[in-house]
Amino acid sequence: MTSLKQIRSTYLDYFAADGHTKVHSAPLVPQNDPSLLFVNAGMVPFKDYFTGAATPPYPRATSSQKCVRAGGKHNDLDNVGYTARHLTFFEMLGNFSFGDYFKEHAIDRAWTLVTKDFGLSPDRLMVTVYIDDDEAFDIWKKVTGFSDHKIVRIAGSDNFWAMGDNGPCGPCTEIFYDYGEHVPGGPPGSPDEDGDRFVEIWNNVFMQFEKENDQIVRSLPKPSVDTGMGLERIASVLQGKNSVFDTDLFQTLIAASAEATSTDVSGDMAASHRVIADHLRSSSFLIADGVTPSNEGRGYVLRRIMRRAMRHAHLLGASDPLMHRLVPTLVAEMGEAFPELKRAQAFVEDTLKQEELRFRTTLGRGMTLFDQAVDGFQPGDMLDGQTAFTLSDTYGFPLDLTQDEARRRGFGVDVDGFEDAMSKQRARSREHWTGSGQSANAGEWLALRDRLGPTVFTGYDAVEGSGEVLALVVGGEAVDRLEAGQVGEVLFDQTPFYGEGGGQAGDKGEIEWTDASGQQATATVLDVLKHAGGDLYAHKVEITSGTLEIGVRAQLRAKSDARLTTRANHSAAHLLHAALAHVLGSHVAQKGQLVDAERMRFDFSHNAPVTDAELAALEDEVNAVIRQNVPATTQLMAPQEAIEAGAVALFGEKYGDEVRVLTLGRSLTDASKPYSVELCGGTHVARTGDIALFKIVSETGIAAGVRRIEALTGEAARQYLLAQANVARALARDFKIQPTDVPARVEGLTTSVKALEKQVADLKKQLALGGGSGANAAPEEIGGVKLIARVLDGVDGKGLRGVAEDFKKSLGSGVVALIGVTEGKAAVTVAATPDLAGKVNAADLARAAVLAMGGQGAGGKPDFAQGGAPDGSKAEEGLTAVRAALAG
Ligand code: ALA
Repeated sequence: MTSLKQIRSTYLDYFAADGHTKVHSAPLVPQNDPSLLFVNAGMVPFKDYFTGAATPPYPRATSSQKCVRAGGKHNDLDNVGYTARHLTFFEMLGNFSFGDYFKEHAIDRAWTLVTKDFGLSPDRLMVTVYIDDDEAFDIWKKVTGFSDHKIVRIAGSDNFWAMGDNGPCGPCTEIFYDYGEHVPGGPPGSPDEDGDRFVEIWNNVFMQFEKENDQIVRSLPKPSVDTGMGLERIASVLQGKNSVFDTDLFQTLIAASAEATSTDVSGDMAASHRVIADHLRSSSFLIADGVTPSNEGRGYVLRRIMRRAMRHAHLLGASDPLMHRLVPTLVAEMGEAFPELKRAQAFVEDTLKQEELRFRTTLGRGMTLFDQAVDGFQPGDMLDGQTAFTLSDTYGFPLDLTQDEARRRGFGVDVDGFEDAMSKQRARSREHWTGSGQSANAGEWLALRDRLGPTVFTGYDAVEGSGEVLALVVGGEAVDRLEAGQVGEVLFDQTPFYGEGGGQAGDKGEIEWTDASGQQATATVLDVLKHAGGDLYAHKVEITSGTLEIGVRAQLRAKSDARLTTRANHSAAHLLHAALAHVLGSHVAQKGQLVDAERMRFDFSHNAPVTDAELAALEDEVNAVIRQNVPATTQLMAPQEAIEAGAVALFGEKYGDEVRVLTLGRSLTDASKPYSVELCGGTHVARTGDIALFKIVSETGIAAGVRRIEALTGEAARQYLLAQANVARALARDFKIQPTDVPARVEGLTTSVKALEKQVADLKKQLALGGGSGANAAPEEIGGVKLIARVLDGVDGKGLRGVAEDFKKSLGSGVVALIGVTEGKAAVTVAATPDLAGKVNAADLARAAVLAMGGQGAGGKPDFAQGGAPDGSKAEEGLTAVRAALAG
């Protein structure tokens, strides 16, 4: 049997021998396209080479690209487990020509690989071409010798492949495999083509055009080739299996799942095992590529996949979290081809385990609610939308999980009702929301950007400069002028003000100009935001004096102190990012960042609190690089070039044609290498020494698997340390010792305070036993029962218990009634020796005392009861009531 691993390497070696550069799979999170949720085809990482936006470093490439189709436009999640071919995670084998070979070579190579190297019989194969692609038709005829009916012409999107509404596209030609007559289904283009008999195994796209908003807008600079062959699909063909889940890799994963749950691989459990095997792959690879479960965006899709798998683990009866126990099997199977999975193994296991533990607490209760809601249902009945919403909102069941469970039992879910319930809740929460003032909407900013062009940012080296007013916006409307006292947004042709972005706050400052009346006019810049894809800078200003009009040339001044500290904080964030990878491991991915003039905040993926020792190591590293005091360097390059040069790009950030690559410091282990290299559009220090000092002030968890570090730099860090030193100094002065001896002294004091407290308690007890009112008096006797009745000043309810025990011992047989008075209030304790059971009820006696003192009542058992009353001055009356009650 040809294993999946062998098929992958045969394919890549075959094309490498044909002059293709082997390229490792790109991460699942698209690095050059924020509009795409996940990489879902082999060509995505090469998109810019096809469109000409970037120059390819090689004319031909081949790869086995990790792909996820879940969430977003291509969503296969709902079907996984119930069909023979749907997967959320798969590998796409591809060979690519960037303006190099075209149709003839692509078809010839594909045919030779499939029929010779993979040994598939031409009798089992047929092909399709785009309806009017005579050229491809003729090539196929020549290469295969097929009669015309085995080369099917197909119109429409089936044979015209596009990456999406935007991006490269072109006609394609596909190879189909015929599983044989015993499987239902017809050839491509026939009415029953959707059956399982004829399966598309390979798609060759002749990339020739580019789309924008789903319209072809231009021809590509050079005709190119993009191909895609699903590894799991070709494996099922070559291994003679009808289902991808019967291929070697999936059989290994399913066997592991069956063993871990002691269940059968077939029968009722089969679908659950398939779901688990597939979702294990997608979850693990996503986590290894830096996605962590959350309630929005990519993180939410991951959470949905994970929870769907976890519910199936629950169906299999797994009593402990299951998914993380299967990771070693997955790594053994795929870790060699994808070292990033192996590197992240511990983090993947931990993330899966934490999520499963978290979900387990609500899974059982949610399932019970579901069971109740569908009680008495007939097949085809619909679960109401409100219940589906409650399951989602309260029990963390994503809608597709509820749908999956309903489908398993033959029911449907009222999705409209679900959405209705959700929008009602949104409306409710919006009632409590107040907006922060209206701005123009995205479309209006885009229109302004089209008309005015991008704002030129001049602030990398300067905080001052002049700019011409191109547009003014108030309350979302374009206006001609802003008068004194008005707040509005201003667009200049160029600006030294940094616009909020990349986690760096927008600059504040002021502008100055001479207005039409010749008056010196000023405005305060409150904030600067970037719009229309990030290069239109809107300055939010408040006019202090004069009138600001379109066409005016103004002097712009960002606050320079703030800019300096912001720079230091931003550069320190880069250094911390690099230090985190060294100290905590390469799984650390940046999850967010905020730098402004005061401080820096850095969020990152990590599953445990950062220990004190690790925090110290982070500070040591960052400060060591600061002390190197080497110049920071910035280079402008094409995004792909930068990523290949090892720059850390942020997942999902959009980068323009040219990116800034910032290098800070020298590696602490190899001075010939840089310490930190990142793509970044922010403003930074000139030398690392400008940061001066780095001090972490807090470390907290902010979401599942995400930690936050807050830190200070420069003067703020010094002030922080100074404040701490002052505390130590003040203490040392009071104690008359050295500051370094303060901790030992405080510890000594704490110990002796505890010892003294105990002594005081013991003394109070002794005092109560021997002293107090009626000291050493013999017990009274009432109705033949011995009674010790005392008021104890300064003893609380807890203290009374011990005293009562001691008195009881001294009595042998009898009743103890104690009223302690603290802070004006009374606590009552009544205890009776066991021999009086049936004769005396301590609870009745305690209640009598409490009621006599204006309290509500007491609680306890016949031999011991306690209560309290508001008025301690009536303590003696309380004891009188006990005596009366005892006398009966
Ligand atoms: N990009 C083509 C596909 O995904 C090859 O089918």
